[in-house]
Amino acid sequence: MTSNSDLFGNVIEYPDNAASERFSALVGIDHIKERLVIEASVLINPQVLEEWSAEHHGLSLDAVRAVKQRAALIVLAGDVGTGKTELAESVGDPIARSLGLPVLTLYPLSLSARGRGLVGEMTTLITQAFEHVRSSVQTARDDKGRIRNAAILLIDEADAIAQSRELSQMHHEDRAGVNALIRAIDSFRRDQLPVLIVLCTNRSDALDPAIARRAAHVFTFARPTAEQREHVLSKILAGTGIGAEAIAKAALLLGPQDEPGWGATYSDLRQRFVPDLVIDAYASNSAITETALLKAAESFVATRPFGTSDV
Ligand SMILES: Nc1ncnc2c1ncn2[C@@H]1O[C@H](COP(=O)(O)OP(=O)(O)O)[C@@H](O)[C@H]1O
Ligand SMILES: [Mg+2]
Repeated sequence: MTSNSDLFGNVIEYPDNAASERFSALVGIDHIKERLVIEASVLINPQVLEEWSAEHHGLSLDAVRAVKQRAALIVLAGDVGTGKTELAESVGDPIARSLGLPVLTLYPLSLSARGRGLVGEMTTLITQAFEHVRSSVQTARDDKGRIRNAAILLIDEADAIAQSRELSQMHHEDRAGVNALIRAIDSFRRDQLPVLIVLCTNRSDALDPAIARRAAHVFTFARPTAEQREHVLSKILAGTGIGAEAIAKAALLLGPQDEPGWGATYSDLRQRFVPDLVIDAYASNSAITETALLKAAESFVATRPFGTSDV
């Protein structure tokens, strides 16, 4: 039996102020953030819909039952460095606050970090993770059926799992993993557990149909637009004295330069471009200048989209 600490990464209990800050720091994806918090709150505690239905329609609508019958599964899909992990690890904070939950616990399971070990390992991992989370919410409801605590099971970097089983190159162990995941999702749905399952994948194009069909919502993440790049840069370069015009110009230079091309990701900007700029200025013992910003933007090479090959 794998111990709990081997099974999961950094377990977080919400509400959590650090998570709240991480959630707020994500820019340009407000529509995803808002919708995700509402969807997830309803999936974890469908009772809120009964209250809404009684208040606005004076009865329990059949339509509400249709909503409640969905699996509590959300998929975050899209290119690398677009904020999927950051959002998945921080969204528990606004969800816990909006539901007034004293504790909402995140259990993050990363499949890629564990490599591909023995045959049956993926299946065992998934089964053990779901069993652990199931037992963690065993006493989640009080005697009136109200939820006192809930959980989020995050399956990050689930590319092999999320990938379509129809793809012939898929290893049979991965296929067994997908089947185990589907069985676990269905059993959580049957038992109406207050657990949100979040699955992240860099492959938005080849999501397994059986998983896509079960998902209450598939959120698709894209690289920032010119306007969003400008927003990120102006926020992170605040105080440098660099003008809005130069920032707008740099944002354009950090976009796709040829067809077909790709621009910088959010993580390119925050973790590579700006840090390089700072280190360069530090190394030359000077301030960050507009000239340095534009020169760096012009020569910056953005991360290749996931799944594109070198040509
Ligand atoms: N929308 C965003 N706004 C601000 N920063 C972002 C955004 N998306 C990503 N980042 C930055 O990029 C880093 C990598 O994002 P991450 O969530 O790991 O990407 P993904 O999981 O989609 O590959 C984050 O730590 C964060 O600093
Ligand atoms: Mg990620």
